[in-house]
Order: sequence, then C-alpha cells, then structure tokens
Amino acid sequence: MKKAFITGISGQTGSYMAELLLKEGYEVHGLLRRSSTIKTDRINHIFDKIYTYYGDLTDSLNLYNLINKIKPNEIYNFAAQSHVKVSFETPEYTSNADGLGTLRLLEIIKNLNNKIKFYQASTSELFGNTPSPQNEDSKLEPRSPYAVAKLYSYWLTRNYREAYGLFAVNGILFNHEGPRRGETFISRKVTLWCAKWKINKNINPLEVGNLNSIRDWTDARDMVRAIHLMIQHKTAEDFVVGSSIGRSVKDLIETAFNYIGIKIKWSEDLREGLDLNTNKIVVKVVDKYFRPLEVNKLIADTSKVKKILNWQTSIKFEDMIAEMIESDFNSLRHYENKKV
Ligand code: GDD
Repeated sequence: MKKAFITGISGQTGSYMAELLLKEGYEVHGLLRRSSTIKTDRINHIFDKIYTYYGDLTDSLNLYNLINKIKPNEIYNFAAQSHVKVSFETPEYTSNADGLGTLRLLEIIKNLNNKIKFYQASTSELFGNTPSPQNEDSKLEPRSPYAVAKLYSYWLTRNYREAYGLFAVNGILFNHEGPRRGETFISRKVTLWCAKWKINKNINPLEVGNLNSIRDWTDARDMVRAIHLMIQHKTAEDFVVGSSIGRSVKDLIETAFNYIGIKIKWSEDLREGLDLNTNKIVVKVVDKYFRPLEVNKLIADTSKVKKILNWQTSIKFEDMIAEMIESDFNSLRHYENKKV
C-alpha cells in the first residue's frame, strides 16, 4: 500500500487530494497547523480514515521527525500562506512557509530517502504580467511576496530534481475553486454573498476590489486529478494546469448573480453595480480590496498537460459557481435552523 504525506491537508486542495488518494487505495497522512479554533471541517468526513499530525512548514525538526516516522512514498506540499493580498502584510512569514518550507522538505527527502516523490504546489502567480496564455516556457515575473516565495520553491524543486535526481515536480496551477474554497478568495466571497442574499434581500452590497483582473478558474477536484497524474507519470516534469478560459472578476460576479436572478446594471465609472429590477446597489468597489500590485491577466495554455497526461477539465465554470452558491445556501440555512 502506497503512503502519502500531504502538507496542508485541511485546506481546499489538500482535502480533495486526500479523498482522491484514499479512493486510489493509499494510506493518507497529513499535516495540520494548530490554531485555537478547530479548522478540520473540510476533512471531518474522512477523519477516521486518515492520520493527522500537528506541525508547521517553518519547523524543520517536526517535519524531519514526521517524515522519518511515516516513511511516505509521496509528499504533496500544499501548505502555504496562500492569500496574495495577505502576503503584502505578512511577507516574512509568507517567505518562511512558502519558500523555506519547500527547502526543508526537499532537504529531508534528499537526506532521508531520495526515492520519495515530491509534488510542489506552484502557481500561475509566478507569471505576473507576462503575456497570456502562459505555458511552461513563459517568463516568470512574480508581483507579490507570495509569488516571490513560490518562485524560490519552484526553482528549488527543479534544482533538486536536476542536482540530486529527485522525482520532484511543479504543478503550475491556475486558480482553483469549489465549495471548500476559503471565504476570502473572490469566488467564495461572491457565492457566499449570493447565498446570504437568497436568505435576506436586505443585506449590504458585496464589496470588492479590482473588477478588471482576468483569471482562469478551474474546479479544484479537476486539479487534484492532474496532480496525481503528474506524480504517476514516468518522468518528473512540470505542468501548467487550468481551464484555458479567461474571465474577469466582473464576469465572475455576473455569472453568480445571474444564477440567483440578479441582472446587474453597472455605473459608468464601474464603481457600483445596481440590481436592474430594484435599482438597489448590490456591488460596491472599495479601495481596501485592491492590492499594492496586481496581476492583470492569467490564462493557461494547457497544451502540454492535455497531450502528455491526457488531462482535461470535467466541471464547467457555471456549474461550479452554482454548486458553490447552493452549498453556501445549505450551510447557512443549516446554521440558521440550529440557532432557532
Ligand atoms: N480576494 C479578493 N477579494 N480578490 C479580489 C477582490 C476581493 O474582494 N476584488 C477583486 N479581487 C481580484 C484580485 O485582485 C485578483 O485579481 C482576483 O480577484 C483573484 O483574487 P483571489 O481570489 O484572491 O485569488 P488570486 O488570483 O489572488 O490567487 C489565488 O490563485 C492563485 C493561482 O493563480 C490563490 O489561490 C493563490 O494561492 C494561487 O496561487
């Protein structure tokens, strides 16, 4: 039986990865970061089937002891401070976890057992404002402390592969979403607002930042399939993964609002969106959600992953957004019922 060690197992991608690996017959071990509130809601349903440990990517001894004890065949490194805007406020912690954290894992693999396969969660943020569509050969120009730290990890993964022959790969993943997405990322922020509006039409408008940035949004469940294919591939190679479709933040909001029956009329300066039926303001652009630097347009060129790994998306963007709204609506209603 293969053993996998997943850092960030309680995060969105980590939790879907754990599910997929359990289905594939793996013994699944995962790293949890302790906090005073319990944050295992994404893995509660599989908790009795997996092994979890407290730890942190900033703690080498802890990582060494765990990997030495678990003896995994594969390590999936998802743990990170993953919010781009937050990285401008916590650059040192972000660099430590997202950059040096990868170094710690690679050093342990190199010294303990260089047969352990390693997956590094690299990101389309590496490309910055390099012209889209971006592929494996596009120029890397990171534009945030998060992306700079991830660039360090990306190169380290390649270097350890070339220098020491490790099976270490980068998945350069574009944005991935779904019902388990963190609430401060734009997709979930929008779907949560829509669910709240379905319950109470008098809520405050949705407040957002830059409406014009373009992203390539894919369902996280499609992404973990690609990751597993990369790790099973005969050679260690890096892959760009996404849907190849670019949409603006404005498009995303319109898709979600359309699902709940709101048609938006935008003000000329695009600072406000009004409900065409009621003329009430439903979207407000506010400065605090803008970033010191923005990445304007990320669209994946997925030629390689399609050709070599025979991977493609299976969940449509509109269906994913609808599912996210329904999932948020159901949990809010469940919570309301529990309160009564
Ligand atoms: N979060 C957020 N909140 N983003 C907003 C908002 C807002 O209120 N208003 C506009 N945006 C814009 C951001 O400026 C950005 O251009 C876009 O929406 C997407 O923001 P996020 O959902 O926060 O994701 P991200 O693209 O910055 O980063 C995500 O994807 C990367 C892969 O490309 C994260 O998951 C990263 O960890 C990941 O590497």
